[in-house]
Amino acid sequence: MIDLQATAQTKARYNRIAGIYDKLEYMMERRAQPWRRQAWDKVGPGKILEVGIGTGKNLPFYPEGGKICGIDLSNGMLEQARKRADRALQEIDLREMDVQALDFPDASFDAAVATFVFCSVPDPILGMQELARVVKPGGKIVLLEHVRLDHPFIGWLMDIINPLVVRMVGANINRQTVRNAQMAGLVLESVEDMMPNGLVKLIHAHSSNSQFGSKPRHFGRDAEIQAKDGNK
Ligand SMILES: C[S@@+](CC[C@H](N)C(=O)[O-])C[C@H]1O[C@@H](n2cnc3c(N)ncnc32)[C@H](O)[C@@H]1O
Repeated sequence: MIDLQATAQTKARYNRIAGIYDKLEYMMERRAQPWRRQAWDKVGPGKILEVGIGTGKNLPFYPEGGKICGIDLSNGMLEQARKRADRALQEIDLREMDVQALDFPDASFDAAVATFVFCSVPDPILGMQELARVVKPGGKIVLLEHVRLDHPFIGWLMDIINPLVVRMVGANINRQTVRNAQMAGLVLESVEDMMPNGLVKLIHAHSSNSQFGSKPRHFGRDAEIQAKDGNK
């Protein structure tokens, strides 16, 4: 069940910072650009859903021949994305929507992508289950996310300061997104560390009812460790 209060709070937080979001993220964005490229390189042409499109930072990386639908909970963030989309060569369908309750029929998309989104979705497992539902069987689901570190002290510190960070910018810094993806029933093809400390991960998955079977091939080093912890 969707936590309506938490979802409304998330929306309000992103609406509040939408106008300054790109400035807030300026330093981080320089590092993130190659990661974004790597994420989108995994996606071919076809009907692609980008969830939590934010201000539209992924637009330059969309694949040629991709028909993109971008959704976001925050109308403020979408307004910023619309400015970028107006300048883009591709036609991009932007819609205000909650990833926890996608307004699309089953198997509507060839692939889905989310970058730095499931840190702020109130119920990330529900959101990922929705991705698995709307992507065609065997279709790619690509997630680029920062996660909780399994280092005993830093992990503990991330848990301690998380409520403050959520209040300020709407993002949880202690999400266990690899484990959440598994709990949502996604079949993990690979989990790559984008930083040596494992803070940012590129997760390549598909929905479980796919033609490829359900055996994971490679996991980042923290998947099992994270599974022990109760954090979503
Ligand atoms: C940290 S920003 C990342 C934006 C963009 N994906 C990027 O890489 O720059 C998180 C985005 O997820 C959106 N979001 C949070 N919860 C959501 C939900 N339940 N459904 C759809 N979008 C959501 C926020 O509004 C925000 O735009």
